[in-house]
Amino acid sequence: MVSTISRLPVLILLLVSMAAWAQTARQWLPLAKDGIHDPRNPALRLLQEPAAALSRLPADGAGNQVNWVHALERGVINPRTNILPETQVMVIDVDIYLNLRGGTPIVRFPHRAHTMWLDCTNCHQQLFASKAGANKLSMEAMLKGEQCGVCHGAVAFPLTECARCHNTPRNQPLPVGAIRGS
Ligand code: HEC
Ligand code: HEC
Ligand code: HEC
Repeated sequence: MVSTISRLPVLILLLVSMAAWAQTARQWLPLAKDGIHDPRNPALRLLQEPAAALSRLPADGAGNQVNWVHALERGVINPRTNILPETQVMVIDVDIYLNLRGGTPIVRFPHRAHTMWLDCTNCHQQLFASKAGANKLSMEAMLKGEQCGVCHGAVAFPLTECARCHNTPRNQPLPVGAIRGS
């Protein structure tokens, strides 16, 4: 009996309620209380407190409460693109539309927002084959920390931000020439 009931709706409910809980004012734990740094270490005061740095960056209601895509695009931060001079940096502006057969809004995957931060090899070919529609994606796998969930919820905005991925209405035609994935 239990095995016939999908656990996905339960997981999703849990995530949505966590997201509602997170909608409070921006606050960051001081280093001495983050459970990572040793509060008795006298060198701790030499480190910049997260609140001092992150409060100056564009706000977000989730994750570490910074919208990192805005921070980069508005030039608020200007991180180094490479350590070794021979590293090839490549940004591509290609969107792939995913979840075309589902019930929730379509997912527009932006290569640009990703390749501003990442190298092609961070995703291709281990995580995703670079061929539209070639990957069998699933929300359940993501919730288990696979596929998009390798990063989202770990180093990028969390999976509770449904609408940031499910960002394209299903009842309107996709842009001309849109690349369709799965
Ligand atoms: C990091 C991006 C991302 C986030 C955040 C995300 N999803 Fe998804 N979701 C996807 C992708 C990609 C698929 C397509 C998988 C496929 O092709 O079946 C998907 C598929 C689904 C599906 C199955 C197909 C359908 O539409 O019925 C459901 C249900 C779903 N997501 C619900 C959610 C809910 C609810 C949230 C928020 C709690 C959420 N997703 C957050 C990327 C995301
Ligand atoms: C964050 C992960 C990620 C990064 C980084 C990434 N891609 Fe992709 N790429 C994807 C996903 C997801 C798809 C869609 C796969 C699908 O539809 O199943 C895709 C699809 C593609 C496709 C297929 C398009 C088509 O028309 O069939 C190409 C080509 C591609 N990527 C090239 C690149 C290149 C070149 C880079 C680096 C400049 C790059 N990708 C970086 C995730 C990524
Ligand atoms: C290798 C790591 C990685 C993977 C895998 C990954 N992402 Fe991301 N994603 C990022 C980072 C880093 C950002 C930028 C920081 C942020 O927004 O938190 C980002 C941002 C985004 C954005 C926001 C774009 C904007 O303009 O705000 C969307 C949408 C998104 N990802 C969807 C997806 C989907 C859908 C998948 C799976 C098909 C996926 N990502 C897989 C790392 C990843």
